[in-house]
Amino acid sequence: MISLPASVFIVVFTAINIVACLWLMWWTARTRVPAADASDRTTVDGSGKTGHVWDGDLEELNNPLPRWWLGLFIVTVVFGAAYLTFYPGLGNFAGTSGWSSVGAYEEQVARQRASFDAQLASLKGRSLQELANNGNAMAMAKNLFGANCAGCHGSDARGAKGFPNLTDKDWLWGGDEQRLLETIAQGRHGMMPALGSVLGDSGVNEVASYVLSLSGGKAPADWVSAGQQRFQTLCVGCHGADAKGNSMLGAPNLTDDVWLHGGDFDSVRATVTNGRDNQMPAHQDLLGDMKVRLLAAYVLGLNEPQAHAAN
Ligand code: HEC
Ligand code: HEC
Repeated sequence: MISLPASVFIVVFTAINIVACLWLMWWTARTRVPAADASDRTTVDGSGKTGHVWDGDLEELNNPLPRWWLGLFIVTVVFGAAYLTFYPGLGNFAGTSGWSSVGAYEEQVARQRASFDAQLASLKGRSLQELANNGNAMAMAKNLFGANCAGCHGSDARGAKGFPNLTDKDWLWGGDEQRLLETIAQGRHGMMPALGSVLGDSGVNEVASYVLSLSGGKAPADWVSAGQQRFQTLCVGCHGADAKGNSMLGAPNLTDDVWLHGGDFDSVRATVTNGRDNQMPAHQDLLGDMKVRLLAAYVLGLNEPQAHAAN
């Protein structure tokens, strides 16, 4: 058996339909056979006689179709035939105009991209501060943030457990322009070592109590003072003697009651016992210089409410 592509059936079926329409037009437009009695213009009934009447007084007149109706009919048939010649519609025949929905979509995307790139190029050489104050630039940055960053940091950039809030001026890695650009372009890897085996259970309790006391948390006084001693030997290298952190290592400030991994006793215990391994992916290769700059300006702006007037 020969198997034909489905489109052949569609072409044949469509062609039959068009021919049938033309035939119907011809058939309805041809002159009527005059009735025996020329003054009787009613339709013929089943037995071939005119004077077809229903319900006593309903007559069906045998008039030809009005000219305007026929005219419209012809126009639609011609339109349909022309449409199927120029545009894709007849099976897999692509049409002579070369138009396609995929082509139209791609053209639109290319136009969009070109205009985005042109806008990006026009912002070259601006400082981050200028970008942050430019409504147009920040509208683009907001889209970029939504597409590249919101999945982890949230669409409002307020973060979640393990993903830092970018709007609170509390920085793991520093919030000045240079540090922000580095963070976004190259990524960051925050490593808190697991110290459970070094400290033992009671050691972890003590040090966690001390950490919580730094931001006003209540804890047994003897645990706090024992914890402070342990902190001075084990933790200050990264978190600093004042426990205010070190942005070179991404070690957070432990005194400000802002928590990346949770600030209740059990969460702090878990952090100290098992450590934390947290990664911000690099975006330089994905986004390129200009988009990284836009995003750094956007993050800066999030921390300076007046810069976001345009949003
Ligand atoms: C796959 C998840 C993920 C994506 C995507 C992501 N980030 Fe991050 N980002 C993180 C994590 C996790 C950290 C925290 C790293 C750490 O703990 O040291 C972070 C840290 C940061 C920091 C440093 C915050 C601080 O306090 O110093 C900035 C700034 C930042 N991200 C901006 C962005 C921007 C802008 C984008 C979009 C281009 C982005 N991030 C995309 C996960 C992500
Ligand atoms: C080698 C450096 C290093 C040492 C030593 C270290 N930390 Fe950390 N700590 C970090 C880093 C880096 C992070 C951030 C991890 C991240 O990005 O998710 C962190 C995170 C934490 C957090 C989580 C803070 C939050 O916001 O959720 C706590 C609590 C903590 N450390 C306590 C301690 C204590 C207590 C000690 C000593 C017993 C200690 N750290 C020793 C580097 C260190």
